[in-house]
Amino acid sequence: MKVPAGWYVILSSTELKKNRPTAIERFGRSLVVWRKSSGEPVITSDQCPHRGVKLSLGTINKDCIVCPFHGFEFDSAGSCQLVPETKKSAVNLTVPTFSATEKHGFIWMWLGEEANSAATQTHWFDELENPKLVYSEHSDVWPIHVTRCIENQLDYAHLPYLHRNSIGRGFDVSIKRDFQLDDKQITLSFKDGGGFQFKFPNIWRLVIKPGSFYQMLAFVPINEQSTKIYARSYQSFVTFSGLKPLVDIISNYQNSVILNQDKYAVISHSPNSSIDATNEKLYPSDHGIDWFRKKWLEKSATTSAVQN
Ligand code: FES
Ligand SMILES: [Fe+2]
Repeated sequence: MKVPAGWYVILSSTELKKNRPTAIERFGRSLVVWRKSSGEPVITSDQCPHRGVKLSLGTINKDCIVCPFHGFEFDSAGSCQLVPETKKSAVNLTVPTFSATEKHGFIWMWLGEEANSAATQTHWFDELENPKLVYSEHSDVWPIHVTRCIENQLDYAHLPYLHRNSIGRGFDVSIKRDFQLDDKQITLSFKDGGGFQFKFPNIWRLVIKPGSFYQMLAFVPINEQSTKIYARSYQSFVTFSGLKPLVDIISNYQNSVILNQDKYAVISHSPNSSIDATNEKLYPSDHGIDWFRKKWLEKSATTSAVQN
């Protein structure tokens, strides 16, 4: 799968337990994610280089993942540190690894030239750094290419139609709205301080009430045909921890109702990827989408993009 180079949210931190390798498919690749004894995440290909079984079926021994088949052990750099029958390491036996980091309650994976991973920062939203904010989270899988999911969140003209009974009630699409566009992000600000912002390559946030209420989404490519969406509500108005579980249930419910309204239409898109949608007729409200397509293509065309 070809996507722009960059740091991608790929998993929620809560999904990655200590001492339990987790199998995932991302960017069309089978990967295993696991934690070192320090808690640091490691991402490797989910295929043992000895005889090809899934490493995710194995166990973790200190800072190595142990293949379930013959017990070969691989460290966080992918090098084989132990072949049980020789009782030695085998430096030439390696499993591909990917740079990983953990921030903001997510596991992030670097896609691109390995040498650039340390020099490039993960992106995040300044507004969500406020320590008073707490979040609830849920996720869903949509059977459609990641570009279609992202574009849906850059499209305000669908609000009074798909969301006529919820967030789109009374929204006037005929009022012209200006996007701010640059290489790193796409922003639409409303007069009341609300608005949304997408940061390349895969995170988005909506301001519902400045300073106290936000929605945040991460669009995680599973493969060409499916995308996992992590949806979070950040809020600061319920500080009493006894009420937090109830607020989480309500926030997740509201989020999933709105996202299901989106999903209903978005998964019906044809073609599957918006990059192939060269015959679509875009209107002024699609200006953010038009920019997104150009940038996504441009960034994917660089040599540092990853192709399976
Ligand atoms: S297949 Fe993994 S150790 Fe043999
Ligand atoms: Fe929507």
